[in-house]
Amino acid sequence: MTKRKTEAAPQAETQKRPAEARPGDPRHVAIIMDGNGRWARTKGWMRVKGHEEGARAVRETTEACAQMGIEQLTLYAFSTENWRRPKHEVAFLMGLLERYLIDERPTIMRNNVRLTTIGHPEGLPESCQRELRETLAMSAENRGVNLCLALNYGARQEIVDATRRIAQQVRRAEIEPEDITEETIRKALYQPTMRDPDLLIRTAGEMRISNFLLWQISYSELWVTAVHWPEFRREHLEAAIADYRKRERRYGGL
Ligand code: FPP
Repeated sequence: MTKRKTEAAPQAETQKRPAEARPGDPRHVAIIMDGNGRWARTKGWMRVKGHEEGARAVRETTEACAQMGIEQLTLYAFSTENWRRPKHEVAFLMGLLERYLIDERPTIMRNNVRLTTIGHPEGLPESCQRELRETLAMSAENRGVNLCLALNYGARQEIVDATRRIAQQVRRAEIEPEDITEETIRKALYQPTMRDPDLLIRTAGEMRISNFLLWQISYSELWVTAVHWPEFRREHLEAAIADYRKRERRYGGL
């Protein structure tokens, strides 16, 4: 994998005022990016070509969110279950992520994007972690869209980790078991300050959650499209948001 060091945009560019969303638009959009392999196969290509084109869709969707004033975009980039894929595909995905983290720096800075992660990035290859640390640090002061990459992420693991954290607090007598509330659990999740996704999009047609953000999506609006992730573009995001605007969110009330 060739690595290309890239120059960041000048600081002044990163201090732009964030774009403003329309009232009633989702503030946090989460996406299960599915269908890379199937898309490539329909064209007679190797599955990994689908991942490569998927990275382009990541860039376009991030830019669209930045321009639309969406506060957070959370992308399911690599799940704890994805390690079960053939070795060469996992290696390709890691290389692709590393290249993305280097090549996208100018786009990230130009669009005032703040990169964050959830999951266990410390389980990724060291070279990947190094580029991740650099891009996280470089974008930390940006105030536009928060691009949160779920990396080596599993929602059940997140709940296990949160439970362990709370159990340790109980053992240290910092909290009584009967004082544990939803708020205690939220604070023990990977990103305690993250608001719940308003809209969860899944591409490629499957009606599944696949161990993504199980705690946080309790009241998220779901939008599933048959479009494969490599072909997902701003127009599809706009269609999802247009549909979201028509929904009435009652949170169990009337
Ligand atoms: C699902 O497609 C997608 C993934 C397992 C990985 C998502 C990764 C990308 C979009 C690549 C680039 C991402 C970044 C952040 C650089 P699939 O292969 O499971 O599709 P299939 O169901 O058709 O096999």
